[in-house]
Amino acid sequence: MSFTVRFDPNNQEIVLAGAIRPHSGVELSEVRQTLDHALNSVSGALYLNAKRLAQLNNAGFHEIVTFIRRACRQKPDLKIIAITSSYVGWQERKFALLRQLSSNVAVEQYDKAFYPGQSVLEDSRFIPVLRTQTKLTWRHERKILPRHGLRPGMAVADICCGIGDFAALLYKEFQPARLLAIDHAPQSLAYARQVAADFGIDAIEYVQGDAANLLIGDNQFDFVTCRHSVQVFDRPGLILRELYRICKPGGRVYITNEKNSHCLGEPRAESIQWTYNEVARLWAYFKGDIEFGPKSRRYLYDAGFDDIRMESFMVTNLDGDPQDFADVVAAWEGFFAGQMAVQRGDSAEFIARFRQGFQDHIFAALHPKGYAGWPIWAASARKPR
Ligand SMILES: C[S@@+](CC[C@H](N)C(=O)[O-])C[C@H]1O[C@@H](n2cnc3c(N)ncnc32)[C@H](O)[C@@H]1O
Repeated sequence: MSFTVRFDPNNQEIVLAGAIRPHSGVELSEVRQTLDHALNSVSGALYLNAKRLAQLNNAGFHEIVTFIRRACRQKPDLKIIAITSSYVGWQERKFALLRQLSSNVAVEQYDKAFYPGQSVLEDSRFIPVLRTQTKLTWRHERKILPRHGLRPGMAVADICCGIGDFAALLYKEFQPARLLAIDHAPQSLAYARQVAADFGIDAIEYVQGDAANLLIGDNQFDFVTCRHSVQVFDRPGLILRELYRICKPGGRVYITNEKNSHCLGEPRAESIQWTYNEVARLWAYFKGDIEFGPKSRRYLYDAGFDDIRMESFMVTNLDGDPQDFADVVAAWEGFFAGQMAVQRGDSAEFIARFRQGFQDHIFAALHPKGYAGWPIWAASARKPR
């Protein structure tokens, strides 16, 4: 693995990426030039961005320490802020040492709270929502995926894999040659690894990472999936850019997203409609766009893909056991009303009405003459050759 060190004058930022593992400092003479050029050009603050720095040996670290010492001597007022990431395990421990060099040196972990929905999605109480959802969607998606180009023997990445259940199903049904599953939520990944171990599946690589900033080389995968996740991140274009980058030319990216205000049910349609309109507003408060589904085509075009295929499907209470549908809605109620609305600071009256719509949706799902639906948009696109 090679490395790059570049200076971005706009952000007064030195960006370190890859694996910096020299045998001696001599190999880093070009790096030194870049660092000195950066030092001469900045005032106020200098950022040392290590988000994509996967490896750093002692000689490499020594070079950074020497540079910071030099910077503190030459520009005593300069603030130096090292930006680390939590999913590169060694960084926190090693970079913490930099704080001892000067009170002007700060070390910040960028992904502690890097998107507004993170606190809710990285709450282990979200796990039951994901567990119940995939149970309902898989029976549709296993038929849909081949229409979007998934074949056995492919190199596949599932980005924002959540609790990893989709990856496990995909592994059993489509026998990929390689299957990498990435999410940022540590609790979900721990759950995923446990389930894989329980089921005796050891071929899935579950890795922690930021979908908007992946530590993966370009052009690696034939098929890249990202389900229900572009819609919860506040900068969907950044995730799509990364999905594009890691996909091989000629390979495909597959995304699914919702339009929650179109969830429906009969009887008690009005109350159900009201609640799901509010679900969309609730996510908007956390800067997620849970109405993203129909926008997928536009976003995929804008990200540079071609050959876009798009279809919608309705998960309903008639697909299988209506109780499965009711279980999903009960999980939504527990999380959206019991967790997210509380976190937003909603009143008891609002939460009671909000809960009622979920209860009415469950009523519709279990009613002998009732109908309940949850629409999803599946879209895929090819990375041009
Ligand atoms: C609604 S869940 C969907 C999970 C899974 N794909 C599924 O369909 O069950 C959204 C997931 O996206 C993850 N996520 C959101 N933004 C992310 C980011 N920038 N990097 C990595 N994971 C992210 C969350 O941790 C969460 O597990």
